[in-house]
Amino acid sequence: MKPSSVKLENVSKSFFTLRGKVGVLSDISLDISPGEFFVLLGPSGCGKSTLLNLISGLEKPTEGRIAIGDKIAVDIAQKIFTEPYKRDTALVFQSYALYPHMTVQENIAFPLTNLKKKISKNSINAKVMETARLLQIEGLLERKPAELSGGQRQRVAIGRAIVRQPRLFLMDEPLSNLDARLRMDMRAQLKDLQQRLQITTIYVTHDQMEAMTLGDRIAVIHNGVIQQVGKPAEVYGQPANPFVAGFIGSPPMNLIEGAIMEENGKTVLKNKNGRYIIPREAVLKINVTNKENCVMGIRPENISIGKPGEGNIDVVINVVENIGSEYLSYIFLKNSKHIIVKSAQKPTSNNVSLTFQHDNILFFNP
Ligand SMILES: Nc1ncnc2c1ncn2[C@@H]1O[C@H](COP(=O)(O)OP(=O)(O)OP(=O)(O)O)[C@@H](O)[C@H]1O
Ligand SMILES: [Mg+2]
Repeated sequence: MKPSSVKLENVSKSFFTLRGKVGVLSDISLDISPGEFFVLLGPSGCGKSTLLNLISGLEKPTEGRIAIGDKIAVDIAQKIFTEPYKRDTALVFQSYALYPHMTVQENIAFPLTNLKKKISKNSINAKVMETARLLQIEGLLERKPAELSGGQRQRVAIGRAIVRQPRLFLMDEPLSNLDARLRMDMRAQLKDLQQRLQITTIYVTHDQMEAMTLGDRIAVIHNGVIQQVGKPAEVYGQPANPFVAGFIGSPPMNLIEGAIMEENGKTVLKNKNGRYIIPREAVLKINVTNKENCVMGIRPENISIGKPGEGNIDVVINVVENIGSEYLSYIFLKNSKHIIVKSAQKPTSNNVSLTFQHDNILFFNP
């Protein structure tokens, strides 16, 4: 089966509840290429699952149009709605939703047993075996779901989804029930599997690390609105706004609010906490609409620690954490904010200056 493109045009969704109309997604347009691994990333409640459900057909948009390949899945203006089972997509949920009374073999085979076009028992068995081999669960085929670990169940759920080679794979936080270690293993295996099968995949997560490692491209969503679409390196290196900057990266980008002004021949960003000298090379990049009220962004790994007086601002380090191969230094600011610096060496003193690598300083409108 050829993988499908997916095109969303001006898709909006509101729910009509007893408390009135709740707008959940507004004016979403996306162009997903055949074979692409596309991630929908955003905090809890931003509308990711709803968007996935609109694509699968479990929900109907209030406005807009969705095409899967050359078939229109839904078009509100033209009153077209294709039933979910006709869309040739496969869904994997966070809760694996396996049939508890069936064996692994039967669970994986299930989507093949109620196809319109009947296929023989032998060819079902062959397909199940091939899928099980791909996911390395050949040894588990006779077991029931209750006899499996979380990671094994997850693989069975994925097996059930891929066994009939759908045109589009939809996954809603499929790894979030697994412990951290297993999640990392499964992440790599999922990426490998998708690269081999080349099935267009739309993957929902609130975990920025998962998005960065899995996605060919990422759409960052906040409050039902797309903030940015780009390759992982683009959303990391050139975040479109403070929300994206603060959401991607661990620890996240430092966002320092203030007013930009000239002082003693230097350009500085000033706020209640102090005065940050903006390196000359970075001054050219200031593109904010209002210098009185803007945000300077710098990632923890793009700040270096030096002797007082040498850098862009003198500060006192409050806490240093050893995270294995690196150190995180916290500088507490007023209103419970802080600056984090990531460094290879442990700072030798608490009284230091910070130097911002000018290439990596960003400026935002708040
Ligand atoms: N059937 C519904 N009726 C009313 N509101 C709903 C309905 N389904 C979802 N919502 C609301 O829509 C918003 C988005 O929900 P959605 O499940 O898409 O979020 P999400 O990004 O998947 O969050 P999470 O990461 O927690 O799964 C939430 O505020 C939710 O309360
Ligand atoms: Mg969800």
